[in-house]
This record gives sequence, C-alpha cells and structure tokens, in this order.
Amino acid sequence: MDKIRIRGGQPLRGSIQISGAKNAALPLLAASLLTDETLTLRNLPHLDDIATMTHLLAQHGTEVSMAGDHPGGGHMGHVLDLRTAKVSRTEAPYDIVRKMRASVLVLGPLLARCHQARVSLPGGCAIGTRPVDMHMRGLAALGAEIALDDGYIAARAPGGLRGGVVVFPRVSVGATENLLMAAALAKGETVLENAAREPEVGDLANCLNRMGARIEGIGTDTLRIQGVTRLSGADYTVLPDRIETATFAIGAAITGGDLTLLGGRPELIEAAVASLGQANVGIEPVAGGIRVFRNGTGVASVDVTTEPYPGFPTDLQAQMMALMSVADGAAMITETIFENRFMHVPELVRMGADITVKGATAMVRGSTGLHGAPVMATDLRASVSLVLAGLAAEGETVVNRVYHLDRGYERLEEKLMGCGADIARLIE
Ligand code: UD1
Repeated sequence: MDKIRIRGGQPLRGSIQISGAKNAALPLLAASLLTDETLTLRNLPHLDDIATMTHLLAQHGTEVSMAGDHPGGGHMGHVLDLRTAKVSRTEAPYDIVRKMRASVLVLGPLLARCHQARVSLPGGCAIGTRPVDMHMRGLAALGAEIALDDGYIAARAPGGLRGGVVVFPRVSVGATENLLMAAALAKGETVLENAAREPEVGDLANCLNRMGARIEGIGTDTLRIQGVTRLSGADYTVLPDRIETATFAIGAAITGGDLTLLGGRPELIEAAVASLGQANVGIEPVAGGIRVFRNGTGVASVDVTTEPYPGFPTDLQAQMMALMSVADGAAMITETIFENRFMHVPELVRMGADITVKGATAMVRGSTGLHGAPVMATDLRASVSLVLAGLAAEGETVVNRVYHLDRGYERLEEKLMGCGADIARLIE
C-alpha cells in the first residue's frame, strides 16, 4: 500500500488549481441514469471515487467515454460522455456499493426510470453508522414499495413514482439528492422540506434543470419539483471543490505560507473563511481565485461547531483541528453531523498535539511543538488532516493508507510539491 512521506517545516507558496468537486460529481454521474440521451460532464476530478461510480454505472448499462479536450492540458479536469440508452440491470451489487457509500445515489434514478431497483445497503463506515433510512422513507412517500431483502434495498413503483411531500427529520445531503432525482421523473409535484442546501445539491438541481427538470427553490431548504415525463441530455460543468479549496487554505495557514487557489470560490466557503479570519489567516479574493496567507505571527485559536451548509462543514473538521493544534490558546471543536468523526485525534496526539475528547467535543490546546511520526487514518478527511499536520511538524511524517486520500484529493502530493512542500509518495 502506498504511503506519503513528508518532511515538515516548509511554508507553502505558489498557486494551486482547484479540481472539480467530488461530492458534486458523484450525484451528477448518477443523474446520467435518468435519460437515454448523452450527459456530458466537464471538470470531473480524477479520483478513485469517480472511477468507482463510473464502474457502477457501466454495469447498469451506461456507456462511458472520455470526451473533449481538457482546457489548459491534462490536469484541468476531465470530460466524460455518459449515455444510458437502456438500463440493462437495475441491481447495484454489494461488491461495488461497499467501496463507496455514495453508490446509493443510483437508487432514486433507477427507481424513477425503471420503476424498480435493488441496491445493496452501504453498511457501516469508519465515521459512523450512516443509515439510509431517510432515503428509503422519502422514496416511499413518492409511492415506492420498499423492503429490505438480504442486505439489499428492494424498491418497486409499479405504476411509476408520484409526487409527494417529504419533510426530512434532519438534513441529509444524499437523501436530498436521491429524492431530487426521483422526483424529477415522478408524476405531479414533490415538495422536499428541510432539504440540504449544500452547493453540491444546487449543482445537481441546476444540471437536472438543464436536462429538462422543473426544480424551484435551489439553494433554499424547500425544493419544489414538478415532475416531467422525460429528461434529455445536457452539457454541464462541475463546480469547484470547496472542501479541497479550504483544505489548501488551511495548508497555507498551518505552514505560514501564501497560496493562490485558482478556481476557488470564497462564497462557497464562507463559514471557513470566517473561522480562518478569526484565526488570523488572511483570505482575499484575487483574479481567478482566492489568496490565503498567514496574517501576522501566530494562528489564533477559534472554536468551531460543524453544521449543515452554510455552517462549518464536517468535511473540514479534521483539517481545522490540525490547524488548532498549532494555535496560540485553546479551541473547542464540536462535531454535530457524524457521531464518530474524531479518529484523527489519537494520530494528531502522536504528533505532539494536545487534544482531549469529551463526547462530541474536542478541546485542542495549541502548541508549536508538532513533530513528525508514522501515522494512519481511516477516512479521507482524517488522512488529509495528518498531511497538513505533517507539513507543519518538525521532522518526518509517514502517512499510511494513502488510498483514502486518492478517493478524494486529486494529485495531492503533486499539488503540494509544486508549492514547496517536501513530500513524496512511497510506492510499495
Ligand atoms: C455527504 C458527503 C460527505 C459529507 C456529508 C455531510 C457526498 C458524496 N458525501 O455524505 O462528504 O460529510 O454529506 O455533509 O456528498 N443520515 C441518517 N439517515 C439517512 C441519511 C443520513 O441518519 O438516511 C445521517 C448520517 O448518518 C449523518 C447525517 O445524517 O449523521 C448527515 O448525513 P448525509 O448528509 O446524508 O451525508 P452523506 O450524503 O452520506
């Protein structure tokens, strides 16, 4: 298994091109199942999770082909043509779904188009139990008969889905996306209340509208969908990855560097910009992106609580914790989205961080004394927090299980190396 070796202490300086958003790309890929015409997606990041989703689609009958030129060369985002003339199989098997929870996003489109689907339950994952009950209850409100059968969600809607009112008991990005795709082809009107407002949900809704769907309320917590009988193809560009943007912003902050994040959009990371501002990190919009630099001497401590968008994202909690480990003073970091998302804590502690966890809150007492160590993480954002800590630490850090990073950060070590980091992939 590959590892990443970092020799810390170099400030990151230069510019980094932000990739397309993984979490927008995954539902957009699933949306290709809704039409027999070609959906062209641009600015797709080159990531293992994207490969897993295209593999899943291919076994449903989608023809996937690389298309077009990449503006600015091969590193600027990939273009795929996806055409599902006919859905050849409505089952999403366990051996693919277990690799990536977002595979469950094929449930809504398959049910809407084929009136039946069998999708493996994704199972537990490192950051919590992550059930799919809201996806299932929402689809049932649209007339689907849903049962659990041998670890699979078996869903049928013999006469097709019909519109309904779904009030989500809590905010779920994936359930909102599944329901949006299902409702697009349902008979009549669907109203989704307490819907997720994440920009990736908006990206999906905008693409669906481009395909002929009738969705109103995009960006709000109430989405109103008038079902249509068919959707067409479209040509759509995936929005930039806000989590990647903010991760590199924290990279500039933690190393005392100065980075320009090309393609990064400050309006997508307002909560992170506010917290970083309080932490003494300079962030300003510049032509084509965002500049991030350490403002003054130290990093100030700042408390953060994760919340659904537009609050502080759970996907940035681990990275923020790495930054707070080098801050002046103590910070309280509270995780409200996932019940078990502090697995990076013991690893950061091994690197010299002073962190105590009590329930859903971590108390981080900042110090300047991070030192390198061999570390390992069990999820994507936890892994990148260790890379960030390694960049700031004295000495050598080896991050094991790099496959987590490859799921969600495109060419991470190459991008960091281009800005002065002493980082290398050790291939085993
Ligand atoms: C998406 C993101 C993930 C991010 C998360 C929260 C993708 C591919 N992944 O994941 O990176 O961390 O949003 O911003 O976009 N829940 C239920 N029942 C359900 C569904 C969810 O109880 O049916 C719970 C989850 O366990 C979790 C919370 O709701 O505690 C939010 O999860 P959700 O927004 O659904 O996350 P994902 O869509 O899986």
